Amino acid sequence: MKKTDNQVLVIFGASGDLTKRKLIPAVFNLFTSGLLPECYAVLGVSRSEYSDEAYRDKVVFNNDHILGKKEATEENLKAFADLIHYQAIDTKNVSDYRKLKNRLTKVDGEKATCNNYIFYLSTPPSLYETIAAGLAGAGLSTEEVGWRKLIIEKPFGYDLESAKVLNDHLLSFFDEDQLYRIDHYLGKETVQNIFVTRFANSIFEPIWNRNYINRIEISAAESVGVEKRGGYYDGSGALRDMVQNHLMQLLAFVAMEPPVRADAESIRNEKLKVFQSLRPLSEEDIRTNIIRGQYMESQIRGEEVPGYRQEEGVDPESKTETYVALKFFIDNWRWKDVPFYIRTGKKLPTRVTEVVIHFEPNHHHLFAQDKNLANAQNMLVLRIQPDEGILLKFDMKIPGAGFKTEQVNMDFMYNQLTDVYLSEAYERLILDCMQGDATLYSRGDALEAAWEFVDPIFDTWKNDASIPVYGYPAGTWGPENADELIEGENMVWRYPCKNLTDDGIYCEL
Ligand code: BG6
Repeated sequence: MKKTDNQVLVIFGASGDLTKRKLIPAVFNLFTSGLLPECYAVLGVSRSEYSDEAYRDKVVFNNDHILGKKEATEENLKAFADLIHYQAIDTKNVSDYRKLKNRLTKVDGEKATCNNYIFYLSTPPSLYETIAAGLAGAGLSTEEVGWRKLIIEKPFGYDLESAKVLNDHLLSFFDEDQLYRIDHYLGKETVQNIFVTRFANSIFEPIWNRNYINRIEISAAESVGVEKRGGYYDGSGALRDMVQNHLMQLLAFVAMEPPVRADAESIRNEKLKVFQSLRPLSEEDIRTNIIRGQYMESQIRGEEVPGYRQEEGVDPESKTETYVALKFFIDNWRWKDVPFYIRTGKKLPTRVTEVVIHFEPNHHHLFAQDKNLANAQNMLVLRIQPDEGILLKFDMKIPGAGFKTEQVNMDFMYNQLTDVYLSEAYERLILDCMQGDATLYSRGDALEAAWEFVDPIFDTWKNDASIPVYGYPAGTWGPENADELIEGENMVWRYPCKNLTDDGIYCEL
């Protein structure tokens, strides 16, 4: 176990939803697991006025995301709340950073946290640069005594240009090794396990290439709509919200070359190379290999559900995509001409994220009674969530006369590991940052490379109004023509169910 220095976590955006829903509960889990250092404090910062007590009431004693946990005993809650403090500042007011510094120095002195600070930016992105500048102006970015780290939430930029500007700006105040660009998908155990599945097992890696793999699908389906985030989402869309960040990160783990060592620099170097090898999308590719859709009002299990354009905060004429499916290639030695497919959408029939590796069919069909090639392919499914696990589909002989075959499942489920606790993504990522491990954080150059790939899509969509946004009824698998993207006769996306081992188009409807 790595050593964790004494430190303070300063959360900007402390009165916001993410802090209450994810960040404070993650720190609470670290606390009850005994993973916080001996001297530790949290300082919440935002504009609203709270006393320390009122803030503790809000984020600890009245926080359902903590109270539901079995560790939330009166004694634990009280001891945890004692670690939490609050300071109101106006982040746009330069002189307020002096106030912050004074308070931080006081908390640091009282708690003996050795001048080590993590600043977590859980604010609207428009404030990232302002806060970084404010911290630097108050002398809170330099590391003469103790260390300083800055965690930046997504979205990191709105497009390639704004991401570059943001990177440059942050780098004028902090060094790259002080910057932790968070992508919560990298905190998921199942995402990290892709790396281990590939590089700890001698059976997968030899066939993990264009000679044996026919195509790779990455799907992230959500059954929820945009909920209360219509205002944000309408300016974003599925490509920015999910693909540029979370799904590109998943892709990097699936497609990367083995790193020299399992450390931050080696792993992040290999991930960058994947993004650099993405075949740039031409306008023609964007028209033919990308399908966008938007959910429309419909009935799900007898209940009327609104369409995207009827959601709060959404323009009633919006063309923002709530679904996107794309086909693309990675031009390198390993993957030349293997199609990759990514699809994500809101208001789909179920919530599932998974990677599906489709292996090449046999070159000679000895048991040729089954003409359906799709059935004859071996498939490895890496289930990210829910019902986390790994599924291998292979053919076996149906007992009886002749050689009739049927596809069967071999699976591993995480819930079989009864004594193992799967930590929450934020918990793992905050702990890594506390210990100075940036392996699971995105590096600036890789983020820019991922933007470089998706940027032309936005331009083409903007400049060519004739590219359709297909409507799909809420509760269905998105535009029907998305199946046409998949190369090969009778080939379609895998239609997964909540349970890893069930499949079939109708299972959740
Ligand atoms: C967020 C997106 O980054 O990820 C949301 O902004 C999305 O729109 C969420 O719902 C999905 O995360 P998870 O962990 O639930 O798959």
